[in-house]
Amino acid sequence: MGFPQHRPRRLRQYEPLRQLVRETALSPSDLIYPLFVTTENNRKDPINSMPGQWRWSIDLIVAEVQEVYQLGIPAVILFGIPDHKDEQGTSGYDSNGVVQRAIRVIKERIPDMLVITDVCIDEYTLHGHCGIVRDGRILNDETLDCLRRMARTHVEAGADIVAPSDMMDGRVGAIRDELDQAGFTEVPILSYAAKYASALYAPFREAADSTPAFGDRRSYQMDPANTREAFREIELDIEEGADMIMVKPALPYLDIIAGARDLFSVPIAAYQVSGEYSVIKAGAQLGWIDEQKVMMESLLSIKRAGADMILTYFAKDAATLMNASRL
Ligand code: PBG
Repeated sequence: MGFPQHRPRRLRQYEPLRQLVRETALSPSDLIYPLFVTTENNRKDPINSMPGQWRWSIDLIVAEVQEVYQLGIPAVILFGIPDHKDEQGTSGYDSNGVVQRAIRVIKERIPDMLVITDVCIDEYTLHGHCGIVRDGRILNDETLDCLRRMARTHVEAGADIVAPSDMMDGRVGAIRDELDQAGFTEVPILSYAAKYASALYAPFREAADSTPAFGDRRSYQMDPANTREAFREIELDIEEGADMIMVKPALPYLDIIAGARDLFSVPIAAYQVSGEYSVIKAGAQLGWIDEQKVMMESLLSIKRAGADMILTYFAKDAATLMNASRL
């Protein structure tokens, strides 16, 4: 039976009614705020390609994290910009490295804020790749040792969750083993399981100064054409001990988020990446779209597709808006 017995518009007439039948809700507690941290003092340097985002020095980042905490956002994820890079990315697993120091300061001052760390050597290597390079090739097994050490030093400094983003095979198992041996059996791994070789990471690479010096990341990040491969990656990471998995980027990969939601029971994170953020910012700056509306629509869509949590540079703006509309 259809029209005129059925009229779906009946339930769309007034806001209270629309609220009652709304299927998806977004809240500040769904969000994770990414932050870039540097070693210098008293610096808050704007990132040109990401309006509204900064590279923070460790001394200034605490006040920023405090603001994030007060907005009801439960977690931040840290990306380090070291002052020293080499072929192996050794500054990434120095216990006095930029991220390790930032974690200590944040956890000391705001112990209830969850600190997640990105575990990947690209920000710490001269060549900018996520693995050890030999003869122009990205080596898999040789990279696992760096990742183990990086994850362990992050956790020793106080990180609550580690998030490997390198896409080397076997990294989740290696990191789990390393953490367990060091006695950190309770620290969860959020694995960037289905991470695509996306052109939408460009603003991040400018921010973190991690553009590959040669070639691209297609020998380790996934082909945007593939769906089944994403589920295989997720399955393998769960088998290796991932507690939560991530799909990245988010909006162009909603099918992957929805498919993963059907197939797996672990919590799913989605990363609304730098390029997704910057195109919305740019469109709004040109006056072509309404920034707040497109921001909320994009986040809601990611949640509707099945994500439990969203890493987004919009976290503060979205939380501020949600908190204000609740008053
Ligand atoms: C790798 C890493 C990248 C991002 C998160 N972790 C860059 C890359 O893979 O090139 C991108 C995030 C974004 O674009 O916002 N350390």
